[in-house]
Amino acid sequence: MGAREDMYGLFTSVNEINLTDDQSGQSAKEGVHKKNISTSYDLQARMSKKGILWNWGYHDEQVAKEINARIPGFLDYDTDGFSEELYFAALREVPIDLDDYADKFVLEVGCGLGEGLNFLSRVIHAKTMVGLDLSEQAVNRANAALSRAGLRYVQGDAENLPFEDGEVDVVVNIESAHNYPRLEKFLQEAARVLKPGGFFTHVDLYTTQRHAFLKELQAKDLGLEWVVERDISSKVQAAIHQRLSPDGSFHKALREQRVGAIQRHMAKRVGPEAVGGSFAGYTDSGSTKLLKKMGVLPSQFMPPVDSYRLYVAKKI
Ligand SMILES: C[S@@+](CC[C@H](N)C(=O)[O-])C[C@H]1O[C@@H](n2cnc3c(N)ncnc32)[C@H](O)[C@@H]1O
Repeated sequence: MGAREDMYGLFTSVNEINLTDDQSGQSAKEGVHKKNISTSYDLQARMSKKGILWNWGYHDEQVAKEINARIPGFLDYDTDGFSEELYFAALREVPIDLDDYADKFVLEVGCGLGEGLNFLSRVIHAKTMVGLDLSEQAVNRANAALSRAGLRYVQGDAENLPFEDGEVDVVVNIESAHNYPRLEKFLQEAARVLKPGGFFTHVDLYTTQRHAFLKELQAKDLGLEWVVERDISSKVQAAIHQRLSPDGSFHKALREQRVGAIQRHMAKRVGPEAVGGSFAGYTDSGSTKLLKKMGVLPSQFMPPVDSYRLYVAKKI
């Protein structure tokens, strides 16, 4: 467990493609985009410490207490737990009692290193839990570290899920869909693999434009009835602020890493943006501005995220 660890600016400018695209991009462009995404996350998977999740986190005292009630000792860990809170926040909105998962198939799309789904496997006891990710390295690490009876990880694409129609009870999707060039295709796929009456829970960062596009999709007949909508920006920003505080896990991780002075300096200056700093109101440091001016970092390192949202839909 711990802070998101992409502090070396491994986000690529490809994020700009789908967050500003009109969604009608050509398939060659989409192929390049996906290749860039998987290469970037393959690299992060190789560099990441064990137990790491890759999201901006969420913090709410009540949610933290609810987790602690299900996993005693959760609040006593020596890490912040905010990324896990985001997973719990997404799951608790699904109208299935947390004790009623014994016969359920839970699929996470965009599972990263698998730690989030592994955490959920301690909250609920589902029959089958599968995490899917585009990054082969992330999936390999997840399987090597975490797979066991009832929990496994597969490589695959959110827009072409390798599952049968109506096989899944709950699809979980955490801070991943902003990477998908065709959000509509993903929603169709999530609906296709869900059983009628099954649920899709989704959290992600949104630009104004991307959110307007989601609204258009929600008005379409994709076989999903949208039952929960929440702007969770303030909870995500609360986690980012705590993470980036001098005693927070971001600086703690930096202090513990065995890296050279220049790397450390860079990570300190550039890294906050990758863990949601600009969304939480932090402005570019002088070094970041200079690196952008020199073309070392893309001018728009992170897209202009203006909300972080949680949605739940029911398969009709
Ligand atoms: C910000 S990370 C979040 C990972 C994980 N959900 C977490 O919170 O720790 C985004 C993940 O989405 C995955 N991803 C991006 N595009 C994908 C796609 N088309 N299909 C499946 N996974 C994808 C990336 O490889 C990456 O692991």
